[in-house]
Amino acid sequence: MNSIFDGQLKIEVATASGIEAVTKRELTRLGYEPSGANFGRITFDGTYTDVLRANVFLRTANRVRIVLDSFKVETFDELFDGISAIDWKSILPRDAKIVVDAKSKNSKIFALSATQSVAKKAIVNAMTSAYHCTLKECGEEYDIEISLLDDVATVTLDTSGEGLHKRGYRTYLGDAPIRETLAAAMIELSVWNPDRPLIDPFCGSGTIPIEAALIGLNIAPGMNRNFACEKFSFAPNVRNVVQDEAESLIDHDRTLKISGFDINPEAIKLALKHANRAGVQDKIHFQAMDMRDVSSKLSHGVIITNPPYGERLMDEAELKVLYADFGKMTKGLDEWCVYVISSYKAFEKYYGKKADKVRKLYNSELECNFYTYLGKAPKKVKK
Ligand SMILES: C[S@@+](CC[C@H](N)C(=O)[O-])C[C@H]1O[C@@H](n2cnc3c(N)ncnc32)[C@H](O)[C@@H]1O
Repeated sequence: MNSIFDGQLKIEVATASGIEAVTKRELTRLGYEPSGANFGRITFDGTYTDVLRANVFLRTANRVRIVLDSFKVETFDELFDGISAIDWKSILPRDAKIVVDAKSKNSKIFALSATQSVAKKAIVNAMTSAYHCTLKECGEEYDIEISLLDDVATVTLDTSGEGLHKRGYRTYLGDAPIRETLAAAMIELSVWNPDRPLIDPFCGSGTIPIEAALIGLNIAPGMNRNFACEKFSFAPNVRNVVQDEAESLIDHDRTLKISGFDINPEAIKLALKHANRAGVQDKIHFQAMDMRDVSSKLSHGVIITNPPYGERLMDEAELKVLYADFGKMTKGLDEWCVYVISSYKAFEKYYGKKADKVRKLYNSELECNFYTYLGKAPKKVKK
């Protein structure tokens, strides 16, 4: 029997708005030729092994899907016919549990629950006639998405399962933790490299320092978890191949200068647990400390941080004082570059300095700014 997983596939990577270029760069580094970056979706061509590699290696993507088909559609009849034309027997086993989701933007079809039921009916009809039996849907789950954009329907199959931000190390939730994928994107957007010191003075449960340590040691973020596609009946078992590749790339002996501080000792306990689960506990210095007391003898380091925004953690008056004190603290590290994410629009005013660059990013649904402050250039050493 021919399965689609044995041939060439069109693979779609979903990423957050504002970080498409970072995810594209990651795909290029993995050896692919990504194209498009519409509404946080990037595509590339590859095999099923590449689907698994994308899931295991991408640090900033939300999920990886296989594109099953894409067609122009303006009516539900056209939608039914387009979905029926897909060779479902080469994708789904007869006991597949079929879950259909729908999205619509700028399209004549916009009723999402009607789109879901028409699509599900088309798939079930096609499967019933292909297998000559009624479907029980008692097996593994297959998540199909119908995404309508400008009257074009794109039908995809999810391969990730749980979102890719779930690396498996963060099981204990701290106060307002940042997503692992966003933390990795902030690091990728900074000038940090593993030879430079890094401090997160508001580290909470440790996400930014841990993601930096994973990057520094070249540990693939998806190594310690499984993906939905590993349970697909017709997919080849190539997890070992991808896992061996990931293992072989780890640089266990690399020395890193990464520190995380937080005023709350409970947050530091969580950060230590998470670092331990991620296997990077020996590479990060975590300490309970008010950021006002944080300093460093090292030069040309990088601060990457996610301070309180005032949304949940403190009131506005306290926030203004905190940002002003943070500005004073970083004045003592004038050779360091500082990167801050905050949804508080007047951040620069209270921090006391206009940023060299401001980029819009989203922390979950919350619109934030990512402020870049470049440090003083290194002094030229006379020969
Ligand atoms: C938005 S949370 C950071 C979440 C973190 N990125 C994570 O992934 O868990 C902000 C953190 O700032 C800490 N904080 C507040 N005031 C502080 C201060 N003066 N010095 C250091 N940390 C402080 C809070 O305890 C909280 O953990």
